[in-house]
Amino acid sequence: MARLLALHMHLLVVKVFGQSCHQKVAKLNADGVAGVGQASCLIQQRADAAKTLIEAKDSPFSPAQWQCISEYGASVDADLPGFSRRLEQRHFGGTGQATTGSVILGAGFGTTATRSLAAFGRQLGLGVHHFVQGHNAHEIPKFWSRLTHLTKLQHPKGLDGCISTLNALNFSEAFDQGNDLLLDTPMAEHFLDFYAVSPQSKVILTNRDAVDWAKARLEWDETMVVPLHSPCGVKLATMSAEKAARLYEAHSRLVRCIVPAENLMEINVFDGSRIDVPALSEFLGKGRPEFAPLFPRVSDQRWGPEAKTDFAICITGQIRRLELKTKVERLIRPLMDNNFRVIVALVLDPRGTASYVHRGPGEVFDDFVVVDGNFSSLQQAAEMFPGGMTLLGDPFIPRDYPVDERYVQDLYSQMPEKGVEYANQRAKSHMRQWEALERCGQLLISPVNHANYTLRLRDDSAVLEPFVPRLDLLEDRALYAPACSRFGGVNDKLALIRGRDTARDYFALSLDMVRHRFNEIHELMVSSMGTRNPEHALKIMLDLNQTMTKHLEADDVPIVPSKNLRRDGKTYQCFYTLTGQYNDCLPERSRARLTGLQGGFSIHKPDSDNARSDFLCEGTALDF
Ligand SMILES: *[C@@H]1O[C@H](CO)[C@@H](O)[C@H](O)[C@H]1NC(C)=O
Ligand SMILES: *[C@@H]1O[C@H](CO)[C@@H](O)[C@H](O)[C@H]1NC(C)=O
Ligand SMILES: *[C@@H]1O[C@H](CO)[C@@H](O)[C@H](O)[C@H]1NC(C)=O
Ligand SMILES: *[C@@H]1O[C@H](CO)[C@@H](O)[C@H](O)[C@H]1NC(C)=O
Repeated sequence: MARLLALHMHLLVVKVFGQSCHQKVAKLNADGVAGVGQASCLIQQRADAAKTLIEAKDSPFSPAQWQCISEYGASVDADLPGFSRRLEQRHFGGTGQATTGSVILGAGFGTTATRSLAAFGRQLGLGVHHFVQGHNAHEIPKFWSRLTHLTKLQHPKGLDGCISTLNALNFSEAFDQGNDLLLDTPMAEHFLDFYAVSPQSKVILTNRDAVDWAKARLEWDETMVVPLHSPCGVKLATMSAEKAARLYEAHSRLVRCIVPAENLMEINVFDGSRIDVPALSEFLGKGRPEFAPLFPRVSDQRWGPEAKTDFAICITGQIRRLELKTKVERLIRPLMDNNFRVIVALVLDPRGTASYVHRGPGEVFDDFVVVDGNFSSLQQAAEMFPGGMTLLGDPFIPRDYPVDERYVQDLYSQMPEKGVEYANQRAKSHMRQWEALERCGQLLISPVNHANYTLRLRDDSAVLEPFVPRLDLLEDRALYAPACSRFGGVNDKLALIRGRDTARDYFALSLDMVRHRFNEIHELMVSSMGTRNPEHALKIMLDLNQTMTKHLEADDVPIVPSKNLRRDGKTYQCFYTLTGQYNDCLPERSRARLTGLQGGFSIHKPDSDNARSDFLCEGTALDF
């Protein structure tokens, strides 16, 4: 019987692998490496060999691809003797059938920036499956939770139990769930299973230096499994980092060997090279964008006692007006120093020509002229952010939905002296802001962010004092806006929100309501005696939405819009003064600083009969 089986196997070797594998077996045997190479040549076929000979045409893989698998088995065997024997008992794809699906497979293990890639896929509008943990673990579909268990935990019936359960799993089910991109554990550990049922898929290999990977992974959680195909619960802690690194590299070689070059893309965010974002976007089937999004940076997220509090910040507007220095130095860094995990989404119009506002570049005050900010691209802006936080960036070009004529009339009736065209421009600009808010919500209300706290800022908002909000003072499901500059509504320059659902509604509601419920908004605007402006519209919308709104004093939220004013080759950060001699949006300390006691100065429009100053400026010039 044994002889007969051996004969069958010999036939199979020749039939499936052709001469090269056969020769290799002979060579290995001659070298005295007993059986190892032989076993790996027979992967997949041996278990079935006693029954029938598998024709290569029934296999999802070509002979050359089987050769890749065989080489993989052999190189793992060097570190884990017997591995290829185990691999050959696997039926790749379980009971699934090979199809010609277009789902993209991620072949990279966790801790290779798969979360950043997942965020990027979602940003492009793809459905992404990525390992779920923490708060949302209960949402995992059954197929994935079963496979995750088989990957991470030892099977009660040992390795044999694990392998036969895997072989009975239908890997085609992974493609049923509306996802376009599958990433991370347990996808990478069962790459051959997924590839067997979708052999025409494109594959992305997220990668990094193998030793760095092993160290980072062990540091993260040593109960993680080894970087191995069908690891069946073997823990990383059972081996040295060097050994783990060799297994990791064997996996990378397998992927490069088995996936045709035109279907494979590798990305490495760790080696200092820049991700070719347009090429990646094209590979993911979304074309080459004119303005490249940022490749997301998603920071680690720990659970349990080590968990930090997430704090999300949405910044919308135009790249050319972007103020970042104070946002980073006086808000983001202090938050991080106070043990927050900060998530920032930039949703900025990338066009150098975009201009939606009054007091725009070129306007003169005294002998100062208004100038653009410091940035002309998201990539440039990204360099200002510290490491260790999550950063998303979307070059957002608004669709410019038509504005209801009645809204233009409402704005016009407030300032008829400025003309209809001015009202038109303002209305269009408001529509763009509402569009950007919706987009920011889409980026932020996502798995990269579990924040119960969200701060919405404008591009030109400046933070006047180091600021860490007292979150314990905020009521759940409430939206806080500055107490100043309400114009009969809700100050729309910033919003601090507690509660994820409230944030989600806030981001979506303005655009949704002005497009679909404008009648109601308009009736309420007309019937009230107050002024008709975006603040008023916002109040009506929040009330209709039953959102609780509350106010914060300037000292509790030291953030106001800023402008860059330039004279004699120097640029200063200035703040428009709205009421009286001082702007009541400025906190007490900032007011003292800006009115000259500590070096600030004020600016008047030349021929203005207005007693108050137009701007209060920081005394120290900016570096651009
Ligand atoms: C495996 O799953 C696919 C997708 O759900 C299904 O079409 C197929 O019938 C299943 N195969 C088996 C053997 O259950
Ligand atoms: C302007 O950008 C440069 C780098 O591009 C940066 O070093 C500098 O801090 C920025 N200044 C401000 C005020 O944003
Ligand atoms: C967020 O708020 C909800 C409701 O108040 C609470 O149940 C949940 O634990 C909070 N989550 C975090 C991460 O703080
Ligand atoms: C509030 O607005 C959001 C977004 O438009 C919407 O989904 C939600 O149903 C609204 N809630 C109420 C009470 O109108």
